[in-house]
Amino acid sequence: MLRVGVLVSGGGTNLQAILDAVDNGTITNAKIEVVISNNAGAYALERAKNHNVAAECVSPKNYATREEFNEALLDKIDSYNLDLIVLAGFLVKIPESMIAKYRNKIVNIHPSLIPSFCGVGYYGLKVHEAALARGVKLTGATVHFVDEGMDSGPIILQKAVEVLPGDTPEILQRRVMEQAEWILLPQAIDMIANGKI
Ligand code: GAR
Repeated sequence: MLRVGVLVSGGGTNLQAILDAVDNGTITNAKIEVVISNNAGAYALERAKNHNVAAECVSPKNYATREEFNEALLDKIDSYNLDLIVLAGFLVKIPESMIAKYRNKIVNIHPSLIPSFCGVGYYGLKVHEAALARGVKLTGATVHFVDEGMDSGPIILQKAVEVLPGDTPEILQRRVMEQAEWILLPQAIDMIANGKI
């Protein structure tokens, strides 16, 4: 049984998709051991508690330096003996010490077809604003392993989603979530849990 930790910063709809996929058997051989947020107010923590999953907060606000925060985050993750760390809307730069320790054991979901609209400054709604500003007709989502770069690790899964006339960033974000993110992330976890990657 793969021991999975999910790192979140906000609403946690991707976390919800993972929890539901474990419940309905779309993900097998995996257990969500903990949800960790950098943000005490993240609704994702409520979703974890509602599911009887451990909900933890490690906030940079409680540490004097970034190094101390990074150390506390790594200590918290280590304490759960995780086989896989899933970044599901986690908007904190992953410390290099953590990447080295958990090489090929950290996956991220990004709301575009990498290498478009990714890297520094591209997160959340900003990704969809940029896609609309460029006028692309197709966008999508990508699940990838995390390496030292920003959104640069090996790609696991991608799915394209149409941009439609009249889209706002919010409408496009929702379509990308519904048609790609909430499907791809559980699928990638199931693949890893069952040795298919
Ligand atoms: C998701 O769209 C995810 O792809 C994105 O943040 C959102 C979190 O939503 N992540 C990034 O932009 C990472 N660069 P959620 O909290 O409802 O899952």
